[in-house]
Amino acid sequence: MGSISDGVAARPRAAESYTVDGIAQRQAEAERWSAEELVRWGLDEFHPEVAIASSFGAEDVVLIDVAARAQKHFRVFTLDTDFLFDETYALMGQIEQRYGIEIERCRSALTPEEQARQHGEALWGREPDRCCSLRKVEPLTKKLAGLDAWITGIRRDQAPARANARKLEWDAKFGLVKLNPLADWTSDQVWDYIRAHGVSYNPLHDRNYPSIGCTHCTRPVLPGEDPRAGRWSGFQKTECGLHAK
Ligand code: ADX
Repeated sequence: MGSISDGVAARPRAAESYTVDGIAQRQAEAERWSAEELVRWGLDEFHPEVAIASSFGAEDVVLIDVAARAQKHFRVFTLDTDFLFDETYALMGQIEQRYGIEIERCRSALTPEEQARQHGEALWGREPDRCCSLRKVEPLTKKLAGLDAWITGIRRDQAPARANARKLEWDAKFGLVKLNPLADWTSDQVWDYIRAHGVSYNPLHDRNYPSIGCTHCTRPVLPGEDPRAGRWSGFQKTECGLHAK
């Protein structure tokens, strides 16, 4: 895999031409590209300051496989909240082996113990927004400050807040380009890809966890429930703040 420091000295500031206006001009064209085309273009255009954001859900393992077919060198980062499922940690190891990559792990500035001391025990059960902010949004903000573009697995039909996601966007919240190559895919397409290419996936998906986050805030869904009903169950919360509405 390409070293993180590759090319940093002479960093090609491709993203400088991708301000809001620049993006708007390319957006329509990008909508016609397949996931493979968009991933290949993004990895090329923003190399080496582009990375796939992965929580290793079904969409993310597809993105990684697509990237591996498009290019030998690609970066993957994860927001390791310290509260992920054992199955998720195990999958990370499998993915590193299979694709010969080293996942860039982004951790909170606070260990779980420090968080408990500063904010009280089980913050997630009282103030999930604050917990997500400390363990996901702050580390993400730091990570994205060093990137020109990020690639995510969001799909339009996952949630109303994602219905307007474009394949190519200017992410005003974090100030960089955002690529959503699977924006127009359905869940069935994701699973067809996984089966067709024998992609490794989180075994929790086979145990009624369609959407997987942290252990404390993810439960399996019941028959007929929305696929995201298992996230922050019991709270109004539906998003953790990584993706602007
Ligand atoms: S979340 O906002 O509710 O947590 P979701 O689990 O649907 O998001 O994932 C949507 C996309 O956000 C993923 O495809 C991935 O690109 C990114 N993402 C979510 N969680 C993480 C994480 N822990 N680390 C890196 N990227 C993540």
